[in-house]
Amino acid sequence: MKLFDVYPLLLVSPVKALGSRLWDDAGNEYLDLYGGHAVISIGHSHPHYVRSITAQLDQIGFYSNSVHIPQQKKLSYLLGVMSGYEDYNLFLCNSGAEANENAMKLASFHTGRKKIISFAKAFHGRTSAAVAATDDKSIQAPINENENMIICEWENQTVLENVFLQHEIAAVIIEGIQGVAGVRVPSSPFLKKIEQLCKKNRAMMICDEIQSGYGRSGKFFAHQHANVKPDIITVAKGMGNGFPVAGVLIHPEIQAKYGLLGTTFGGSHLACSAANAVLEVIEQENLINHAAQIGEYMNNELKSVPGIKEVRGLGLMIGIELYESSAEVRMQLLNKYHIFVGSASNKNTLRILPALNLSKEDANFFLDAFRNIMNEKTKSIKNSELVLS
Ligand SMILES: Cc1ncc(COP(=O)(O)O)c(C=O)c1O
Repeated sequence: MKLFDVYPLLLVSPVKALGSRLWDDAGNEYLDLYGGHAVISIGHSHPHYVRSITAQLDQIGFYSNSVHIPQQKKLSYLLGVMSGYEDYNLFLCNSGAEANENAMKLASFHTGRKKIISFAKAFHGRTSAAVAATDDKSIQAPINENENMIICEWENQTVLENVFLQHEIAAVIIEGIQGVAGVRVPSSPFLKKIEQLCKKNRAMMICDEIQSGYGRSGKFFAHQHANVKPDIITVAKGMGNGFPVAGVLIHPEIQAKYGLLGTTFGGSHLACSAANAVLEVIEQENLINHAAQIGEYMNNELKSVPGIKEVRGLGLMIGIELYESSAEVRMQLLNKYHIFVGSASNKNTLRILPALNLSKEDANFFLDAFRNIMNEKTKSIKNSELVLS
């Protein structure tokens, strides 16, 4: 059997990792500023994380959600306290798409309505409602076409108000910071407008913090920079530092009842021990403040690099938009300097999504490499302009 060929692959095979470093099968070392797609929050193979999962596996790795699992209670407690959502309830599942699927389902159950608003260039996952709320026709199969999804213009308050006037809305779903779109931070007035319209029309505000949450933005959740309080929040990626675990944070007014939501694997002993270890490390190592500081430093430094159209983001979720495709720069970073960075659906944008404990030395190593590449690039553009003139 061969693998179903859906992923374009980089020519690297990491076999070992520690902190922000990776080593390939030939022993070459790499700096990881991509975090396996924003997943590595506390650094690869963090000792506390490895110890916690190993110890848990020695006891019990899994039992179904038909029994008491104390690790789930610990997780809901820690997550509540650290995120500032102590009064919310937590539903545990396995992936970002599954979290969003359940969030939208819950909003529909709670309001008795069908219509969901999402935004241009949004990415919410690849399952049924999640992919329908995603603004990318190329990943929607005919079965995913869904007349209940209304995709609105980004940052256009008038359009949003009109849609609310025309339809009974169950929920608005928005990323804390758009990731796949190339790191686009929603403005505070836009988020406040969504919150206000949802409240007024008794619709649910869902914030997808799957990529932007868990401290990446320099606050626990990116939407907290705008001082809004969504009814439902979804989390995944950084939550398990690579262990598949996801969650839905649910406003206390939304009533649970047996069988309303469910999943076989969600919230296993092992998944919760990974998620608890992540929160403990974030707390003990003060990683949210660290992400804010290193992120601000990188953001400022990047602004003086030549050839950049725009630097966007908050904390350690940074988008660097060039004037042309960023593919060549990404490959040079990887092949010449052994640095992993991410791309985006906007082909000109590089995404920087490192572990939250990225050191200043590692940030500088990247900045120097990136500056060199961009200086070379601007020099060669100038030379070719001279030749042409
Ligand atoms: C904002 C956002 N939502 C949802 C998802 C889907 O998560 P998963 O791939 O775990 O299903 C992603 C994944 O990239 C994401 O970035």
